[in-house]
Amino acid sequence: MQNKLVKLSSTAVLALALISCVVISVFALPSFDKSKTLTITTDKETYSANEDVKVNVKFTNASDSDLSGVLLKADLPQGLKEKNGKSLKVFSDSVQKNGNISLEFVAVSDDGSVSPATPTEGGNVQPTGSSTQPTGSGTQPTGSGVQPTGSNNSGSSSSNNTSANTTSANTTASDGKAVNTGSGIAYLIIVLSVLAVSAVLVYVFRKNKKATAMLSLVLCAGIITTIAAPVAKVSAEGNADAFYGFEQKKVINIDGTDYTIEAEVKINYNGEDIPTDPSVPEEPEQYTISNIRNYIVGINEPVELADGTKTPLINFDNAATTPAFTAVMNEVNKELGMYGSIGRGYSQKSDHSTDVYNDTREKVKKFLGVTEDYSYDYTCVYVNNTTDGLNKLASALIKSKNDIVLTTRIEHHSNDLSWRERCKVIYAEVDEQGRVKYDDIERLLKENKVKLVSVTAASNVTGYVTDVHRVAKLAHKYGAKIVVDGAQIVAHRKFSMIGDTPEENIDFFVFSAHKMYTPYGGGAIVGTTEGLNEGMPDVYGGGTIDIVGDDWETYKQAPGSYEAGSPNYPSVVGLSKAIDVMSDIGFDDIEAHEKALNRRLINGLKAMDNIILYGDTENIDDRVGVVTFKFSDINSLTLATKIKEVGGVATRRGAFCAHPYVWRLMGIPDEQVHTYEHCADVKTPGMIRISFGIYNTEEEVDQFLARLPIAKQKAIEYVESIPIEEMRPQPQF
Ligand SMILES: Cc1ncc(COP(=O)(O)O)c(C=O)c1O
Repeated sequence: MQNKLVKLSSTAVLALALISCVVISVFALPSFDKSKTLTITTDKETYSANEDVKVNVKFTNASDSDLSGVLLKADLPQGLKEKNGKSLKVFSDSVQKNGNISLEFVAVSDDGSVSPATPTEGGNVQPTGSSTQPTGSGTQPTGSGVQPTGSNNSGSSSSNNTSANTTSANTTASDGKAVNTGSGIAYLIIVLSVLAVSAVLVYVFRKNKKATAMLSLVLCAGIITTIAAPVAKVSAEGNADAFYGFEQKKVINIDGTDYTIEAEVKINYNGEDIPTDPSVPEEPEQYTISNIRNYIVGINEPVELADGTKTPLINFDNAATTPAFTAVMNEVNKELGMYGSIGRGYSQKSDHSTDVYNDTREKVKKFLGVTEDYSYDYTCVYVNNTTDGLNKLASALIKSKNDIVLTTRIEHHSNDLSWRERCKVIYAEVDEQGRVKYDDIERLLKENKVKLVSVTAASNVTGYVTDVHRVAKLAHKYGAKIVVDGAQIVAHRKFSMIGDTPEENIDFFVFSAHKMYTPYGGGAIVGTTEGLNEGMPDVYGGGTIDIVGDDWETYKQAPGSYEAGSPNYPSVVGLSKAIDVMSDIGFDDIEAHEKALNRRLINGLKAMDNIILYGDTENIDDRVGVVTFKFSDINSLTLATKIKEVGGVATRRGAFCAHPYVWRLMGIPDEQVHTYEHCADVKTPGMIRISFGIYNTEEEVDQFLARLPIAKQKAIEYVESIPIEEMRPQPQF
């Protein structure tokens, strides 16, 4: 009887073990196993050199929670490079649920130069047809980055590429099955452990110890249900080790050699241990001009051209705003983990954020040359941007409509209208080449009781650097204070608010963080503590006060009095990091690099027919990386549009928020400007501006110079096709 019971029990244990395996398989694993697939398809199986390879990676049935931890990567075969040069590790936000990711590869030669993608007219640099092929020498790209590596880069062979590219990506070659290694391993572990426990139980029963056997049975059943099932679920869904859920490989053949493309999807259901994006590089030991390009967010992000092809943007619009440093982005992401209310909360996070926020004030001051000796004399106030800073200063310092502010005709509107709307403004003129006339500043100072002189350190139109210390000396000599609009200098030249002598010191300096690789908004005024406390801006609220009664209040001193409302913490964190990166590169190198880019661009442009260049093109040492031009035979609006659409280059066009200066440079009298009020854009005068960032290269300049004539030809064809006569551009603009 006892033997029977033991046999029965051991059979029951085995049955229970098997049922557990089945239950675990049915409930825990299939949701992971069967509903998702990962496929790699290519347009062909066999390629020749210089042919583009279109790879399509598809991950289906991903749920929203999957996407929080999906890592999709494809390891590139040697000799292939993704078309836009970016790493093929794509994070979940760019993975469409159930969507496709189309990755295109191009052959790369040993020197690293990339074969161009399907050449189209102007689009990817290479003109295709003879009809769009301009004849001038400037039409061929000269930089290595745009030179095809193989022989089939000419107009005729480009058709090969075209056919390769236009082949449907759905002419699927073999697309394998997902390996799903993670769940396989999990499954194996669980089954093995269940079987092992069962074996132990059976062994115990066979020893004929009834009580022990029954106890073990109960215990083991409990263990199986309470431990094995959750373990199965956790393992299946991705535990802290976050195993790879799916991997996929596909072999393609290029010029007789097999290459394997791999894709993996890493799933982390429980939201922990989300892998860090390997495409975001670690910080290098030293940032330099030559490596900074690897540390710019979105540098290889393709943009779509008018013909539908995609190419990485050449960004020559850095005077408007700059992309983020990866270090800035990473630092902001990191700091958000310890983010708490600044100056208001009682928590470790609050304390930490407040420290970072306030310590950065000191760093900003140091960055602007405010040495230890002057540390107490100067205060850093955070603002939203330069415009906000100048308006806050004007609001705080201007006491009467009769106050006189002296500025110049080179200024951005932000350093003109912010004063003009509040008091009397007088303007020093610029000379024929557009430089500020220092003698005019002195004349006006002599003739007027000037309260403030406000000048830009570098022009956003011509890039001219004004000797603001010389202006400071003049201002102080006549009892005025000096405000410097630093928007265009901070990312381009070493700047110190402290001059060689105390009279040359700058009283107030304003700049934007987004023009120095921190596009989170923000910026700062650094000013003398005494000067800032002469008033407070007309912006009131939380953060500005010491104490408030029923009908009375006492306000803080600067910086608090200038910072109403909750602060913009990411911008401060980012700014702090951007200062580190720029200082690491060093402003001597930055300046030299920009001068080389300026020289190359100006020389290239000068060689073109009907070109008009603004500013001094011979002595360019006092110009930051800004070059403005137009052609006499095409309006700037249509041309800039075509540069964007067929050239893939970001420029800016118009009068750059510095209208009076631009009209002067273009020789358009004020009376005539009135005629453009509310007129069609195409007839409004304007220039095209190229403005460099530290990551731009000479190759990009060459590419631009090659694409410009193509874009211009397209622009001319376009305006000739406009039927309404009055919409035709005025040739002189
Ligand atoms: C010389 C100059 N000053 C002020 C500004 C205004 O900067 P923000 O738009 O960041 O306020 C700009 C912007 O381009 C500028 O170039």
